[in-house]
Order: sequence, then C-alpha cells, then structure tokens
Amino acid sequence: ILGEAKWVERTFAMVKPDGVRANHTDAIKEQIQAASFAIISQKWVHLNESAAIAFYAEHSNRAFFPSLIDFMTSGPVLAMVLEKPNAVAEWRSLIGPTDSQEARLDAPDSIRARYGRDKQNNCVHGSDSQEAAAREISFFFDEYHQSEMKLDAKYDDE
Ligand code: TYD
Ligand code: MG
Repeated sequence: ILGEAKWVERTFAMVKPDGVRANHTDAIKEQIQAASFAIISQKWVHLNESAAIAFYAEHSNRAFFPSLIDFMTSGPVLAMVLEKPNAVAEWRSLIGPTDSQEARLDAPDSIRARYGRDKQNNCVHGSDSQEAAAREISFFFDEYHQSEMKLDAKYDDE
C-alpha cells in the first residue's frame, strides 16, 4: 500500500464557464480519459461571488481579479477530481500555459490551446501543487465547506 500511495495522486480539474458554454465539456473529458486519468468525482456547480472570491483568494490584489470573478460566476462549471500517478503535474501539462494564445504556440495539443481563447477565457483550471489540489478538492467536494461557501450544486453524479 505504501508503494501505491506514493505514486497515485489526485488533482482538481474544472471546466470553466467558457468551456461549458461552448459545449467543450465532452471533448475535454475524452482528452482526460485518453491521457489515462480516472475521473473519480464530478459535480456541476454555479459559483456565487463569495465562492469565486474564496477560490481565487491568492489573486485578490491583481488588476484582473474583478474581471476574473465576473467570468467565473457567469455560468456553471464542471468540477472534477482526477487520479493518476503524478496527477498534479500531468494535468498542468495537459492543460498547457495560462494564456490560450501562448498555449497555441508552445503547446498546440494542450486543452487551453484547443478550446481556450485568451488569458482569462482559458477553458480549464488545474491545481498547481499537491497542497492546492487538496484544498481545491475539499472546496468543491466537502459538504461542510460547500454550505459555508454557498456553492449552488446543480447536480451530482458518480
Ligand atoms: P493563474 O493562477 O496565474 O493561472 P493558472 O490558471 O494557469 O494557474 O491565474 C488564475 C486565473 O486567473 C487564470 O486561469 C485566468 C486568470 N488570469 C487572468 O484573467 N489574467 C491574467 O493576467 C492572469 C495571470 C490570470
Ligand atoms: Mg493558478
């Protein structure tokens, strides 16, 4: 069990409102599965303002923050827990650079290159560390935290 636990890792993934609106969710999930991630939980959520602010708290002093909050609350998102050895780094690699325009140059097969539009409308989120993954998974999937943050869960499955 120690050997297994050392290598299998979980990360948090999300299809953002632009990706949901443009109906890219199924294609993204196919790309996730083709890359041998297991989608072990998923949930549709419409973030309210306080939840979006809490989720992106680390960026609260940045100039783009108000626009980011408007964008993230503009429609439902698909939250997922992905599992795979080295999941955090592997998922960051599959999504590509933050800016979709840069992604199209540097990582043309990445999800942000294929389905995103720019730095804000970049279609997907990925945790940037194991600590962030644990926090973000709990943010979306821990019942107590959900009620605190007033997340509006549309429906659950799996
Ligand atoms: P960041 O954590 O830097 O990127 P990543 O999502 O790749 O971890 O930023 C979080 C989100 O904030 C990013 O996905 C989109 C938005 N953002 C902007 O809208 N403009 C910007 O200049 C940056 C850096 C981020
Ligand atoms: Mg980040």
